[in-house]
Amino acid sequence: MLDDTTVAVPNHLEAFWLPFTPNRHFKREPRLIARAEGLHYITPDGRRILDSAAGLWCCNLGHSHPAVVEAVRRQIGQLDFAPSFQFAHIGAFELASRLRALFPADLDYVFFTNSGSESVDTALKIALCYQRAIGQGTRTRLIGRERGYHGVGFGGMSVGGIANNRKFFGTLLATVDHLPHTLDRERNAFARGQPKWGAEFADALERLVELHDASTIAAVIVEPVAGSIGVYPPPVGYLERLREITERHGILLIFDEVITAYGRLGKGSAAEYFGVVPDIVTTAKGLTAGTLPMGAVIVRRQIYEAIVERNPAPEWMIELFHGYTYSAHPVSTAAALAVLDTYERERVFEHAAELAPYFEERLHALRDCPHVVDIRNIGLMGAVELAPRPGAPGARGYAALCRGFFEEDVMFRITGDTIALSPPLVATRADIDEMIARLRRVLEKLD
Ligand SMILES: Cc1ncc(COP(=O)(O)O)c(C=O)c1O
Repeated sequence: MLDDTTVAVPNHLEAFWLPFTPNRHFKREPRLIARAEGLHYITPDGRRILDSAAGLWCCNLGHSHPAVVEAVRRQIGQLDFAPSFQFAHIGAFELASRLRALFPADLDYVFFTNSGSESVDTALKIALCYQRAIGQGTRTRLIGRERGYHGVGFGGMSVGGIANNRKFFGTLLATVDHLPHTLDRERNAFARGQPKWGAEFADALERLVELHDASTIAAVIVEPVAGSIGVYPPPVGYLERLREITERHGILLIFDEVITAYGRLGKGSAAEYFGVVPDIVTTAKGLTAGTLPMGAVIVRRQIYEAIVERNPAPEWMIELFHGYTYSAHPVSTAAALAVLDTYERERVFEHAAELAPYFEERLHALRDCPHVVDIRNIGLMGAVELAPRPGAPGARGYAALCRGFFEEDVMFRITGDTIALSPPLVATRADIDEMIARLRRVLEKLD
């Protein structure tokens, strides 16, 4: 058990193989965290690191919110685990009903997972199952988008569009194609919020329909705002056009809202924010504000009805052969319920919406810093893209990350040479000022 004030740095860092981390460098210069409170991580030697990334886009309430801590403590003493295969605990129904109310239109049925990756693979499987259930079993193709990130399962990796996440892992799913990404720096650099140009990128779907025929395509999956690649807000009109084309061709539209749901854009979902209703929404992260692993896939009524209600098999038979040991885990469920209560009680989404224009203003003030080639933002998501060092893409971004942690006591995300910010939704204007000031100092010293 780690003591919460003086955590000894382990002598031996070898055994832990860190995910998405350059392990060799990390183990020479480890960035260790011992505790967290509010908007700060605290290192073993007591330095307070300002969390400008909400952990990994997830700690929307900052860290260790007392209401969530208490709910988890209570739940683990009362019901530590209950299977969701063939049995269920009451909290799961309550949480599903709360999500039904949170998501727009008839996004009414909820399947629980433990992560964003699991949510994505669940959504893709539900999409295939749905097409089969309505007599469209030839629709097996899945369409993703270049530079999309949908986690690391084989499904999510296949529809994802980041070369490094794909190229090491063989042939992936065979029946996948990709839309073009929507970054257009020539026309849209330093756009604020949604860029003006680029709705026509959605028309590439018509081309894919021409190529493959609609009768082979089950679903299109996109992040409404591409997050992990470095915050690409959708061009004005793009999502609407994608919705129109998918609907016309009987193709399901999946929004991967693992980052955008639960307040990141100042609303319950990007679907609500953009006024575009997809057929399936994948979520995780902000559902428990990062406190415990949990994800949720929310589907429209017609999908649940086709697979479950109208299933021709006898009633004693399972309708969807899919699920996880920890689906709707009671302790994660309790955390999620406490988090949703807190979002409401403390008007967290409204606060995020009010803070967003200030965040935009401050973020774009970094434009004069060295190496900056673009700045993008929407809601409380922001990115500062740096020019790569010649012949060493990613090196400058990584140097910024290390400098931030060791010299300026600030944590942010990097993807290649892009720095991403996603402040906890409860940040104040003063916190934003501090994040930007520290980032500026990092950038000004960067070669
Ligand atoms: C849009 C999106 N989908 C899926 C994932 C994968 O989530 P996880 O790391 O919880 O599996 C992420 C993680 O950042 C994400 O941003």
